[in-house]
Order: sequence, then structure tokens, then C-alpha cells
Amino acid sequence: MSRQIRFNAFDMNCVGHQSPGLWAHPRDNSWRYKDIEYWTELAVTLERGFFDGIFIADVIGYYDVYKGSNYHAIQQAAQIPVNDPLQLAAPIAFVTKHLGIGITASTSFEHPYTFARRLSTADHLTRGRVGWNIVTSYLESGARNIGQDGLPQHDTRYEVAGEYVEVIYKLLEGSWEDGAVVRDREKRIFTNPEKVHEIAHKGRFFDVPGYHLCEPSPQRTPLLYQAGASGAGKKFAAEHAECVFVAAPTKSILKAYVSDIRRQAAAAGRDPRKLLVYNLVTLIVDETDAKAEALFRDYQSYASYDGSLVFMSGWSGIDFSKYTPNDLVEKVETNAIISLVENLTNGEKAWTIEELARWGGVGGLGLAFAGSAETIADILQEWVEETDVDGFNLAYAVTPESFEKVVHYLVPELQKRGVYQTAYREGTLREKLFGDGPTLPANHPAAQYRNIEAYKQRQSAHTQDHLRTPQTV
Ligand SMILES: Cc1cc2nc3c(=O)[nH]c(=O)nc-3n(C[C@H](O)[C@H](O)[C@H](O)COP(=O)(O)O)c2cc1C
Repeated sequence: MSRQIRFNAFDMNCVGHQSPGLWAHPRDNSWRYKDIEYWTELAVTLERGFFDGIFIADVIGYYDVYKGSNYHAIQQAAQIPVNDPLQLAAPIAFVTKHLGIGITASTSFEHPYTFARRLSTADHLTRGRVGWNIVTSYLESGARNIGQDGLPQHDTRYEVAGEYVEVIYKLLEGSWEDGAVVRDREKRIFTNPEKVHEIAHKGRFFDVPGYHLCEPSPQRTPLLYQAGASGAGKKFAAEHAECVFVAAPTKSILKAYVSDIRRQAAAAGRDPRKLLVYNLVTLIVDETDAKAEALFRDYQSYASYDGSLVFMSGWSGIDFSKYTPNDLVEKVETNAIISLVENLTNGEKAWTIEELARWGGVGGLGLAFAGSAETIADILQEWVEETDVDGFNLAYAVTPESFEKVVHYLVPELQKRGVYQTAYREGTLREKLFGDGPTLPANHPAAQYRNIEAYKQRQSAHTQDHLRTPQTV
């Protein structure tokens, strides 16, 4: 049987998400990001196209690496203005029955205790259809605006993330036992206090002694997404993520990534097939190849050169304004998305700054393909067969047009070929994707905190043992 292909839609609560400058296209509706109807209408379209979910990116901070200023980012609406993504979960769930809603939130800017409540609330209101895209962030400006000296070093951010998710797991998995809420009107007991536990977390970065504020939501821990691409990032993804996002520009890079992440997941005791990998791509689909190519050229004519380099500079941490358009991109040590610089300098292709700017103009961090439904279906099938990737994370060039054309032309073609779903599974987002159960499986690291009292006893026994063991110098 041919391999199945899955789709997520990639959007952000802002105007210029991945294709800077295309907000000026006469048919682009991204400026409506602040209207609830933009999101509800889009969600209905995506559910009609059997997308796994809508995935909403987010950054705290602005892109001020290019020319050392945020002038062009602000002028070109390059992910600024940007609204809060989590508030979109409930209205999207309200107008759909199955669509997953992946929300990005950073482990670098908000305390896990308050975030745990916001996450559980979203899982309740969506009846278990929310996912959390765990990011560690890459913009210095965000860190400075919450009073930090700057962004911690890249790998330290992942150490913080490791402890952050531990706190979240303890609160969401361990604090409230199943059956804690009894709602017994006769006995006048709403919740059995014996079944609600303090998590007693004392760590390097966070101290959280007490109880979670929410009763358990349908998935307890919402579905976990992550996009680690560095050594530390991939390790984190292999241990924690259930869906992984990647922006691989070539099949060989993607194939190596997918096999590495599955190998590391297996080494961490997880089922490597229970990890879905989606590659970032922008699809420009139309009735015929010629029409799609003409549409691509039309879109390209609106792309912003400065806007593209604003993004590329922000993502990579390299100020590309310091080079001439014909200079080649060179490897520079930065504290941002290290893997982007590695992909651009790995020797497969030499990139000039001009090429990079043009490439990023439509599709941003990911690839862009244009063609008829048949052509695009051939391309996607080839990528899936050759790389073992599970699906694609579709960014838009012009919204909602890009998504509508995928749903109208491409989805039926893929369904005709038997490689795309024609129905959703019932249940929570986790059940729809993996079919097992609403909560994280027993081989996931979160499971160790389920019986939190037993966990606390093990920890205290371990500490006692450690204190009793004579230390040799
Ligand atoms: C498809 C995709 C979407 C991403 N979305 C976000 C996002 O919304 N916010 C963010 O701060 N980082 C985002 N990132 C960056 C990742 O979280 C991560 O930092 C990046 O993939 C590099 O990996 P590393 O952190 O291991 O170096 C995204 C990456 C990819 C590939």
C-alpha cells in the first residue's frame, strides 16, 4: 500500500507569517488575523480538507537582527503586529468537530505554573483537541522585554525546557488523580481532597510546591509538538514530542533527520512510529501546471526583499545586510536557529544572499512547490517514499487562497490515489492521530509522574541514599 500523507496548516496570529510582503497582494486576507471570522472560516475549510490540524506559530519579540533595527520588520509586518495564539483555540474548536489546534508557547518567557492552567483550560474548552508546540525561542528582543539580560545560551534553553515540561507533566498528570472530582450532591463533596496532590517540585530553574489549579482535561497533557533540529533540540524532540516539525530544504537532509529522530526515539524507549514528522512547505496549486506557475510568479512579484532578509536574519542570528547580494552565506556561530545556518552551509549548494532572499520571499523557512494537483501529488508522494516523512506542514503564500486551493484541487487527487484520509477518527486529537488513548502512553516520560506520591517517595529515598553514601574525593 502507498504511504499515507498528512497535512497540517501553518499559520500565525499575525499578518506576514512566512511570505513577507505578500500581505500587499489584492487577494490576501492575512490582515484579518484580528477578526475571529478569519480563523473560524479557515478552520472550517481545513476540516473539509481533512487536515490533521491548524498549527499556530508564535514569537515573543521582534526581528531586529537585520540592519540592527526593527524598522523593516515593523514596516513589512514581519510577524509584528502579532496576537496571542492560545486565545484562538476555543473559537476554532467551537466551529469544528475534529480539527486539531496546535498552539505555540515558549518555555523561556512564562512560568510553567501559570501556563499549565492556560493549557488545561484550552484542552477542556476544545474537548481535547489542543496541542502544545514547545519552543525555546530565538529572539533576544523578547528576553530583554521581560527583564532578562538576553536570551540564555541555546543549549541552556533546552535545559530549562526539560525542567519546564517536567513541571507541566507533574501538574497535569500527577496532581489530580482520576476520580478526584466526584460531584456528589448528596454527600456535598465536589472533589475528594485525598485525591489531589502537591507536586513538591524543587528544581534548578523552578520551584512549584503545590497543586495544579485545574481538574484533569480530556488529554491531561495536550498533544506535544516540537521542532528541534540541533543536537539538543533533536534529543528533546525524540524524548518528548509526538509530532515533530522540520524545515528541511532537500530530501537528503529530511531523510537523515527523520531516521535520526526515529532512532533517538527508539533509544529513549518510545515507539518510533508514534512520532509523526511534518516537513514545512508552501504549495501553490491550480487547475494546470501553467496556471500554478503563473500564480507563483504573481506571488513572487509581491515578495519583499528586505522582509525576507528580516526573517532570515532573525531566524539565523546573522545580519545579512552586512553582505552584498552576491556574497555567499557563510557559517557563523550564533545563538538563534543553528540548524538553518547548517543547512545553508552544508556544501550541498552554495547560497548567495540574493538567492536566499528570493527563496525566502515565498515560503519563508520552507520550500515552495507550484503545479497542478497531479504534479504536486507526484512530488509529495516522492518525498514521502524517499524520506519516510509522515506529512507536510503547509504554510500559505496568500491566505486563505493557498489553503482553499489545496483543499479544492490537491486533497481530492491524493484521496483518489488512496494516500490521504477521507474521515477522522473519533476522540481527542491524540486519539485521532495515534488511535491508542486520550492520554500519553506509558512509555512517555510524563507517565512516571502519574502516581505522584510514589514518585515523591522514590525521590526522597534516592536523596537519603545519596546522603548516606560516603563521598570519595
Ligand atoms: C515548522 C517550524 C515551525 C516553528 N515554529 C516556531 C514558532 O512558532 N516559534 C518559535 O519560537 N520557534 C519556532 N520554530 C523553531 C523551532 O522551535 C526550533 O528552534 C528550530 O527548529 C531550531 O531547532 P533548535 O532549537 O534545536 O536549534 C519552528 C521551526 C519549524 C521547523
